[in-house]
Amino acid sequence: MNKELKILAVVVFFSILTYVGVEPFAHSQMHKHVDDPTYAYADLKDSGKKGDAVKGKELVTGAGACTGCHSLKAESLPAPMDALTSASAYGVNPPDLSNSGALYDEKFLADLIKNPAHALGVEHKFKDGAMHPMVGFYGAGGDIDQEIADMVAYLKSIAPTAENLTPKDAFESACGRCHSMRYDKWSKIGTDPSFKSDKEMYEYKAKVATYDEALKAYMGAMPPDLSIIIRARSHHFLSTFIENPQSQLEGTSMPRVGLTKDGEVKVMEYLTQIGDSSKDKRESLGPWVILFFVIFSVIAYFWKQSMWKDLH
Ligand code: HEC
Ligand code: HEC
Repeated sequence: MNKELKILAVVVFFSILTYVGVEPFAHSQMHKHVDDPTYAYADLKDSGKKGDAVKGKELVTGAGACTGCHSLKAESLPAPMDALTSASAYGVNPPDLSNSGALYDEKFLADLIKNPAHALGVEHKFKDGAMHPMVGFYGAGGDIDQEIADMVAYLKSIAPTAENLTPKDAFESACGRCHSMRYDKWSKIGTDPSFKSDKEMYEYKAKVATYDEALKAYMGAMPPDLSIIIRARSHHFLSTFIENPQSQLEGTSMPRVGLTKDGEVKVMEYLTQIGDSSKDKRESLGPWVILFFVIFSVIAYFWKQSMWKDLH
């Protein structure tokens, strides 16, 4: 056999060995295995009750007290307190509930309403009588599971369909109270306004810093800016982390978020839009680069042949 072909065969053999053998093995040793997300929330029970959205509305805006802490833009109900006052009371700004029915799993929402610390997977932080800042619903006099099913039905009835939910709204509702997105000028209390003077800018920054201080004290750790997380972590890591933070980082202070599959897809879409907007372009360039190398190799091969022809 021709010497070049032998060399090529050796190179190809070791490349394949590294790619399908060594790399996956090293990966499996360095990262623990976490199953793909299922969004089943199998630890939570389904009450089996069918909710009535009309009754649910009365509860959400009345005896359920939801709008005593949350804004509800879909019904033009403003937040009872601004972000900073909320943060000083609760440690975090409660999110607007207009998109909840589209973002969160039904079982998760029902469990959250009854026992927030349980649904969010943070019971270990609220032992010895300490209360979660979102007060659990004690019931309005009837069958509590039915009342909760009614509220969930109502939240679903006012939420946009999954297709109509914009990636940005999904992020702001589900992650935005804890995570900033500097590349999109999002700083937890809202989108940064344009400043007319340095004074205005510093005043705004002081507000954000005050919010951050309260959030850090509440969470026990500062939630990182997510502008480039999509490039720092794999898709698998992020989706499993979002479904169940403890599965990836044991003891992490990030609560479980309870997203549906559609909700997660929208959030990931937003992270990609902001953090890796040239992904499609980059990936479509790949085949052309490989084609270039193939053509280049053929030319190089013939060139070498012609140069060495007289020397052999
Ligand atoms: C006493 C204030 C208060 C009341 C009353 C309240 N909440 Fe909350 N809620 C909060 C706070 C604070 C958070 C944020 C908690 C956190 O991020 O740790 C929150 C978070 C949420 C979330 C987001 C959960 C997630 O997975 O990110 C939803 C949905 C929600 N509340 C729905 C409701 C509904 C529905 C009701 C009425 C049954 C309600 N809340 C009543 C304070 C409240
Ligand atoms: C109630 C606050 C809260 C919410 C809501 C929240 N996070 Fe977090 N998140 C945190 C905290 C706190 C940390 C830091 C955890 C730590 O250091 O243990 C964190 C860390 C992270 C990390 C970093 C993990 C790593 O690589 O170390 C990612 C990624 C993340 N969050 C994504 C999200 C996404 C996506 C959402 C919305 C679907 C979200 N978070 C919602 C509080 C929150």
